Amino acid sequence: MIPAWSQLANLGAALAFILALKALSSPKTARLGNRIGAVGAIAAVAIVFFSESNLKHLPLILIAVAFGTIVGFVAAKKVQMTQMPQMVALFNGVGGGAAMAVSSIEFLKAGATDGFVALFATVFTVVIGSISFTGSIVTFLKLQELMTSRPVVLPLGRFITIGTALTTLVMSVYLMVFPEIWALWTLVALSLVMGILFVLPVGGADVPIVISLLNAFTGLSVAASGYVLDNVLLLVAGTLVGASGTLLTQLMAKAMGRPLTSTLFGAFTAKASTATASAVDRPVKSAGPTDIAIMLTYATKVIIVPGYGLAVAQAQQSLRELVDLLISKGVEVEYAIHPVAGRMPGHMNVLLAEADVPYEQLKEMDEINSEFSNASVAVVVGANDVVNPAARTDKSSPIFGMPILNADQAEQVVFMKRSMRPGFAGVENELLFNDKTTLLFGDAKDSLSKVVAAVKSM
Ligand code: TAP
Repeated sequence: MIPAWSQLANLGAALAFILALKALSSPKTARLGNRIGAVGAIAAVAIVFFSESNLKHLPLILIAVAFGTIVGFVAAKKVQMTQMPQMVALFNGVGGGAAMAVSSIEFLKAGATDGFVALFATVFTVVIGSISFTGSIVTFLKLQELMTSRPVVLPLGRFITIGTALTTLVMSVYLMVFPEIWALWTLVALSLVMGILFVLPVGGADVPIVISLLNAFTGLSVAASGYVLDNVLLLVAGTLVGASGTLLTQLMAKAMGRPLTSTLFGAFTAKASTATASAVDRPVKSAGPTDIAIMLTYATKVIIVPGYGLAVAQAQQSLRELVDLLISKGVEVEYAIHPVAGRMPGHMNVLLAEADVPYEQLKEMDEINSEFSNASVAVVVGANDVVNPAARTDKSSPIFGMPILNADQAEQVVFMKRSMRPGFAGVENELLFNDKTTLLFGDAKDSLSKVVAAVKSM
């Protein structure tokens, strides 16, 4: 029997999660939302300790909680903004793995598998939690560049994946009809392999969509484990993560201009891409900071396209300084924000908010795209894929179909980057070789500081 006070406290924690999500949806209230969510999570853990009269293995549980707290705290403190998606992928995987482990243990304690619904919830948690666990680890390895971020297509990959998926399905049904222990472990093994096969063929620019999808998977498996454990709070929290993850996945797939199926299964049908062709032999036009300063000062309208490199260089403050300077000289300046610029949803908004860039200067892609044709200069700072015209024209390109910022329609284009290396998707960018393009090579922070100094001296 669950005590009434703990049911009420659970309700309070569930409410905290809902309020946290609401507050997280705006940059102005996001910090508050994070705190409310943290309070809900701490309360959820505390409720279990105080409401469970027969808590076994307390020292072991406390050691595990302390270990998790220390690792989580240190990792969150140390992580660079640009490494955030890797951390999300890793933490997400751990969540799916935990749900799978807890449900498996409940299965072994036969009582918990009483009834078809409980058995179904157990099987669901085991399959989805395992897929989320290994899938997230592969995503982490791709993002951390510990393995190639390009699609990995195994020989006969399509058949291996379909075969594994069907065997997993058959084994799931078997386990529900004959709840035997060997079948549980076989299902766990199959689902773990399925997670790897699921993510390996996803590459380049599609990885963020998969992170979001795996996040939704973890939410659903946690919700199902809530049913197995008879824990309403897990059910609510898991459903919230599942629903918000699904919505975010849809939004990101839309931002990338492709159906989710083509993200997940596109690599099986894609032809080998010529995208990595070396760019070293082709001529480009480059200039020094003073030339760029002159070009910008005499412009009437400048559109800034920030990207991942801005975050790497931590150049947001220098960029804001340049923009403020140009505005003070009568140039109209705006920032064009692509939905998947950087390495996490809202990355550029967060980065520019750190430098106190006014929100009204930030324009979403749909709002700004028609303005590029009136701009004297598009300044692309540490971005690449989000302005690559191959997304419009090259059907064999892994980013084909992704809506891009129309930087190529500006009168002149300036790229600030360190080399001719491509961006995340590994795709060469024709815009770098365009007649109207000028490159300013160097670290973005260093380049921006030099351009600021040059503008000041004019
Ligand atoms: P990218 O296409 O990755 O291009 C970044 C560019 O920044 C590179 O060309 C790099 O060239 C340059 N760069 C790196 N460090 C720099 C530095 N210190 N100073 C100056 N330049 C530097 O970035 P993007 O245009 O923002 O596109 C984002 C990509 O990441 C998309 O493909 C997207 O799908 C993917 N992605 C997005 C997310 C989310 S949700 N936003 C998550 C994961 C992946 P050099 O090396 O030559 O300097």
